[in-house]
Amino acid sequence: MTTKVILTRKIPKVAFDILKKQAGVKIISWDNEEPIERKTFLEYANKNPDCAGILCMLTDKIDEELLSKLNKNKLKVVSTMSVGHDHIDKQACKKYGIKVGYTPGVLTNSTSDLAVTLLLAAARRLKESSDAAINGEWTTWKPEWLLGKEVYGSTVGIIGLGRIGSAFAKRMHHGFDCKILYSDVSEKDFAKDFNGKFVDLDTLLAESDFVVPHCDLNSKTKEMCNLEFFKKMRKDAIFINTTRGDVVKQDDLLTALQNNIISYAGIDVTVPEPLPTNHPLLKQKNCIVLPHIASSTRKCRNDMATLAVNNLLLGIQGKNLLKEVGLD
Ligand code: GLV
Repeated sequence: MTTKVILTRKIPKVAFDILKKQAGVKIISWDNEEPIERKTFLEYANKNPDCAGILCMLTDKIDEELLSKLNKNKLKVVSTMSVGHDHIDKQACKKYGIKVGYTPGVLTNSTSDLAVTLLLAAARRLKESSDAAINGEWTTWKPEWLLGKEVYGSTVGIIGLGRIGSAFAKRMHHGFDCKILYSDVSEKDFAKDFNGKFVDLDTLLAESDFVVPHCDLNSKTKEMCNLEFFKKMRKDAIFINTTRGDVVKQDDLLTALQNNIISYAGIDVTVPEPLPTNHPLLKQKNCIVLPHIASSTRKCRNDMATLAVNNLLLGIQGKNLLKEVGLD
């Protein structure tokens, strides 16, 4: 008897090989670097109602419409190759007894490294500086040209001190002697590792040189970073986001940057993704936009894909996943 799984993207070979070698597993795969179109995904589900598992990406919506095409008694697991799982309707999965796997931990280092990179790039105006070198604006060394913000010894405010937030805090504290403020639902004991001070959000916004959300996207954090939020930040402060675009009310970020309510932003995530190339944020001198690359190192993507495949295989066997999203 074969067990069918749907795979929505071409994944790194190390992980695909594990899946391919499984006896009795039939892979229905969208073998492409680009996302599967919604229409095609629905067709895959329609044609394979008996599939036992789906391995998806953060670009694939798993919702009632998709699940309605599948036999919910057969479908045991949805395994996403991402730490974020806001694209999955968890209530629906819970209702049908479908396990949800994700990939925390293996991307903590690469993602927190990228947050540091983006912070440094924004603080030192790397994009404008590189553009100046390319387009001939670099006439000579000038005492007051392209002045940035000093990072060493600055105050960094982190909203949401989870795995990635605390890895980022360690880097900023031990590497750059930054004072770490954090806000969260509760005080974290491990924050003593980097001398982190638990404060309320308003204090964090008022005192930080760099404001960096590291929280999940959920109904409480959706569009949390709005104009009111930016107005509470210091005028010379820099905003960094590597979480999800929807944590930010993007038009308000644009207003804050255009009106110098804050000084600069560095963002790896936007709404929508990709951001249209004529989007005004891309024209803002005081904003660096990256194309959602926080976890893109070879090692990290291999590890994420391997964990996602292992979650999928355990799920179709009815076993506990290595990393499972709690559905309560
Ligand atoms: C990336 O954004 C992820 O959620 O893994």
